[in-house]
Amino acid sequence: MCGIIGIVGKAPVAERLVESLKRLEYRGYDSAGVAGVVGGGVQRRRAKGKIKALEEVLAAEPLTATTGIGHTRWATHGAPNVANAHPHHAGRVTLVHNGIIENFAELKAELAAAGRTFESDTDTEVIAHLIDAELATGLAPIDAFKATLDRLTGAYALAVLIEGAENLVLGARRGSPLVVGEGQGEMFLGSDALAVGPFTNRVIYLDEGDYVALDHDSARIFDASGAAVTRPVRVVPTSAVMMEKGNYRHFMEKEIHDQPEGCQRTIAAYVDALTSKTAIPGDVDFAKLERIQIVACGTSYIAGVVGKYLIEQLADLPVDVEIASEFRYRQPALRPGALVVAMSQSGETADTLAALRYCKAKGMKSAVVVNATESTMAREVDVVWPIHCGPEIGVASTKAFTAQVSVLTAIAVAAAKARGTIDAAEEQRLVKVLLEAPRLIAEAIHLEGAIKEIAADVAKARDVLYLGRGPMSALALEGALKLKEISYIHAEGYAAGELKHGPIALVDDQTPIVILAPYDSWFEKSASNMSEVMARGGQVIFITDTLGVKHAPEGAKVVVTAPASDPLVSTLVMSAPIQLLAYHVAVLKGADVDQPRNLAKSVTVE
Ligand code: M6R
Repeated sequence: MCGIIGIVGKAPVAERLVESLKRLEYRGYDSAGVAGVVGGGVQRRRAKGKIKALEEVLAAEPLTATTGIGHTRWATHGAPNVANAHPHHAGRVTLVHNGIIENFAELKAELAAAGRTFESDTDTEVIAHLIDAELATGLAPIDAFKATLDRLTGAYALAVLIEGAENLVLGARRGSPLVVGEGQGEMFLGSDALAVGPFTNRVIYLDEGDYVALDHDSARIFDASGAAVTRPVRVVPTSAVMMEKGNYRHFMEKEIHDQPEGCQRTIAAYVDALTSKTAIPGDVDFAKLERIQIVACGTSYIAGVVGKYLIEQLADLPVDVEIASEFRYRQPALRPGALVVAMSQSGETADTLAALRYCKAKGMKSAVVVNATESTMAREVDVVWPIHCGPEIGVASTKAFTAQVSVLTAIAVAAAKARGTIDAAEEQRLVKVLLEAPRLIAEAIHLEGAIKEIAADVAKARDVLYLGRGPMSALALEGALKLKEISYIHAEGYAAGELKHGPIALVDDQTPIVILAPYDSWFEKSASNMSEVMARGGQVIFITDTLGVKHAPEGAKVVVTAPASDPLVSTLVMSAPIQLLAYHVAVLKGADVDQPRNLAKSVTVE
């Protein structure tokens, strides 16, 4: 949600704190701030809005510290203004926080009763006061920190400076990730490996409940009980911390174009190209599985819905897909014979994590389809199914979606073979189809010129309707979500068969209606829906394929022709046109494509 960086450095750190915050800006961009130890005291610089605003503050008032912390905020408690911007300060303590302290109101009341006053509306400030109060009793910094952590309920990743402790950064994690980076005579703390990526590739992923004291040369790590522990140092591949836009204007644009490669790498990890057989990592016996329960949020949820269509149809294996924030609070009826599959790009989404833990507590075997393989979810499940699309920085998910769908497609084929609903020859045919998908995705991306022209019209619309049947009904949801989140145009995605049951009332000659209809078993029905909306003046953007275009009813305002594909991979192929449409509409509207308002890449609060 928020981004954190801490550096115990040999040289002034302000520039590096800012460099790291720029990498973390995708996590939140309501305000930003840094603090550093200067001459035994701690100085802060903070600004409302993006890192750029903080840079201006620093230019006017430089910070010379060689030990410092930084933060980029996605507001939870308190408006996005300077007073609520991190770092927060109380007495000898200055700190930054990612997460939510659930018992902050009672802690604040207790601290206020003891005469402490507050300068912000945040939950975070109470942590600074608590540590300061513990220091005042004579405790050493690490002990005051531990005593405070024991009083906190909720989620946190923290980086803390203490006045008088020149070369010390304290850190802790519970519910929000935190990594330590090892440098040469310098140590780093960050929300993820991307944060410390410019400075080191030697990373320690802290465990849940860990806290740490960093100085120039060491990271003393303790577990939740206070026992000193060692955690392994991992060497992170450069590709995992690369964050370059190249020649693209936005990360989202780059990530759309990255998809053929991202899907190719992902598919290669789930099939054996030589034998054309599936090769699903991990120990899951699909033949014996009674049910799959998918839990996820946002675009990951939609990928799960696509997976349900494929797995049920091919493997005759029941799949339930549910939005994690609903699932976790409704006491769903679960049985141990089912496999829970969390879908998450970040592996940190709070609701998905809670739903996953709920299922595990019920005795279910667990798996996650995830991009961040060192994330909390990846560390808690029995089976990790990584997507291999590289870091996704644009807040709007694109390449993670198609990589997630690629994994579920391979799983559908593997499960079908294991359960005997397809034979070896059909498995080989389907694997070949899947291996062809990246090429077809690349061809679909070539539709960009045509999509750009359509975008000019869509950008003028107040509402847009997306319709599809079968897996395309899921893609209709995804098309609408993409448009909403980056262009702020109201959009709805519907299963086209539902049209007559309500949404058709929205249709008028001002409403673009995007119909997703590859030439599959649902095509005729989708074509009928197209006629129905055209009869009511609807402006149809018909996205079909080279086979469907020959059978489409006359009268669509625009027809977009994607390459024809087997139904197994048509969702993958049809994704690029809807992503590109949302992207170009947002660009035309001058929206902040990579950092849309009110959103953050990783939602680690419920
Ligand atoms: O990291 P996750 O996949 O768990 O994130 C889930 C959603 O927050 C995410 O997909 C969100 O909906 C995206 N902004 C959609 O583009």
